[in-house]
Amino acid sequence: MTDFKQRVFSGVQPSGNLTLGNYLGAIKNWVGLQDKYETIFCVVDLHAITTWQEPDVLRNATREVAAGMIASGVDPKKSIIFNQSQVPAHAELAWIFNCVARMGWLNRMTQFKEKAGKHKERASVGLYVYPDLMAADILAYLATHVPVGADQKQHLELTRDIAQKFNSDYGVDFFPEVEPLIFGAATRVMSLRDGTAKMSKSDPSENSRINLTDDRDLIAKKIRKARTDSEPLPGSVEALENRAEAKNLVNIFAALSNRDASDICIEYEGKGFADFKNDLADLSVSVLGPITEEMSRMMDDTAYLDGILREGAVNANRMASPILDQVHEIVGFLRP
Ligand code: TYM
Repeated sequence: MTDFKQRVFSGVQPSGNLTLGNYLGAIKNWVGLQDKYETIFCVVDLHAITTWQEPDVLRNATREVAAGMIASGVDPKKSIIFNQSQVPAHAELAWIFNCVARMGWLNRMTQFKEKAGKHKERASVGLYVYPDLMAADILAYLATHVPVGADQKQHLELTRDIAQKFNSDYGVDFFPEVEPLIFGAATRVMSLRDGTAKMSKSDPSENSRINLTDDRDLIAKKIRKARTDSEPLPGSVEALENRAEAKNLVNIFAALSNRDASDICIEYEGKGFADFKNDLADLSVSVLGPITEEMSRMMDDTAYLDGILREGAVNANRMASPILDQVHEIVGFLRP
């Protein structure tokens, strides 16, 4: 055994409710990493304000995301949990990366195109340089592994490009090559109303997603109402290929039960969706119910949550400050 642990960093935006997508694509996977890596998990409030957030709603959502992480099994004794704005290194390194990243690189980011939509000129500049801040989040700690859902893959490729360009511009071997950890049976959870759209906290339809603030009845109701097709379930994963809604529900089932999708197909082969959805509703309630209830208990104790975030920020600052000092040295900033 060696004492040396590689470092994991990941984050979630407090820009609305936590969804089943956030849980299965990211947070659930973080729990098991805590014993293998040094783990840092961040509520990325600086990222959230790239689109408008009401201040009181943002404050509440920041605590709610922290509560969701902890209720899901992220342990403040094992991991650093904090909110981004409490650690100045993020914004500071992001500025340096704004000067490293190229406009052409950012122009290719699909998430910006999706979020800005037709009105690119009216999007905030922050939304445009969002991926530079994300690179700074990770590299301010020289983190090497980043567990995320599939939708963040392009941003992590940009993080690698920024690290590489910084190293080569300054002739150093300073920032590591970041490795995405995209794993589990549900790396891209889709909307319950449309199997071709990602489940998202910004979807106007409440029935499109399960929120980690939904109670047991609502979770079960949303699963039972989920859109499906009229065919029975097939016996293999391959046969789900052109059945987006069915595939999504099978993947959710697999991820929630820690089984393979192919296993689920074998069990339900030839059965109709009514039975399958009843079982999936029961499974969802049994896994998510305790999490949502713990979250809501924690939200009644904001002093506890704020304490965790404050302590996390102190530790995060302690890690990031010397790294930022070295960056200043490399870039050529005079220091006192
Ligand atoms: P965010 O807040 O949109 O989502 C947080 C995490 O949840 C994953 N996720 C999903 N996974 C599967 N299916 C879905 N439908 C789904 N929706 C969301 C995301 O992939 C993500 O892992 N830019 C990031 C936050 C961030 C970050 C970072 C992540 C900022 N800095 C540094 C890693 C490292 C984001 O907007 O995630």
